[in-house]
Amino acid sequence: GGPVDADIRKIEPGMLVTFTWRKQPVWVLHRTQPMLDRLGKHDQLLLDPLSRQPQQPVYCQNATRSIKPEYFVAVGICTHLGCVPTYRREVGAPDIGANWPGGFLCPCHGSKYDLAGRVFKDVPAPLNLEIPQHTYLSETLILIG
Ligand code: FES
Repeated sequence: GGPVDADIRKIEPGMLVTFTWRKQPVWVLHRTQPMLDRLGKHDQLLLDPLSRQPQQPVYCQNATRSIKPEYFVAVGICTHLGCVPTYRREVGAPDIGANWPGGFLCPCHGSKYDLAGRVFKDVPAPLNLEIPQHTYLSETLILIG
C-alpha cells in the first residue's frame, strides 16, 4: 500500500489512535504538556536518548521525536521481535516500576519505551520505535508514508 491519511481531529489529549499503513499499526498519540515535560527527565535510563540510530526521519530527530511536539507518530511494533506494545500512560505503574514515566510496554518480553518511543536500557529491544515518514496536509490531517 501507498501513503495513508490520518485524521487526527478526534484524538483527545492523552489518547492514542492506531492507523494502518503497509499492514502495520501506526500510532498517533496526542501528548499533553505534562507528558512532554516529563520527556527530558529520564535520559539516563534510555539506550539512545538523543535518537542517534536511524529510527526516524531527520525532521523527527529532536527532543520529542516529532514534527509537532503534541503529536507523536510511530510504528507500533516492538524492535525486539515484533509484538505490539501496550500504551501505558500512567506514571509509576506498580507492575512496571516506580520510576515509570509513562510510555509503551511490550507484552512479549517486557521491553519498555517512553512517550517518545525511546527504548529503555534494561530490556531486550535494541532500538527506539520506528517513526515513519509523514507530513501534515493540514492542521488535522497527517499523510503517513
Ligand atoms: Fe517486544 Fe520481545 S517482542 S520485548
